[in-house]
Amino acid sequence: MIVCVCNNVSDRKIRQAAEEGMTTLADLRKHLDVGTCCGKCHSCAKQVLRECQETV
Ligand code: FES
Repeated sequence: MIVCVCNNVSDRKIRQAAEEGMTTLADLRKHLDVGTCCGKCHSCAKQVLRECQETV
């Protein structure tokens, strides 16, 4: 599933980033450009991050 349509970032990419140690939206923004355009994906991206942190 694509989380950030503007920058074509999937939930898989976010999960992978989380495995590599990214824990905040700011990290994702810096490394994957998530949420740098319209911003509509912020809550979804945070949700995916949270899910990753819960399953660790
Ligand atoms: Fe992520 Fe627009 S959908 S910035």
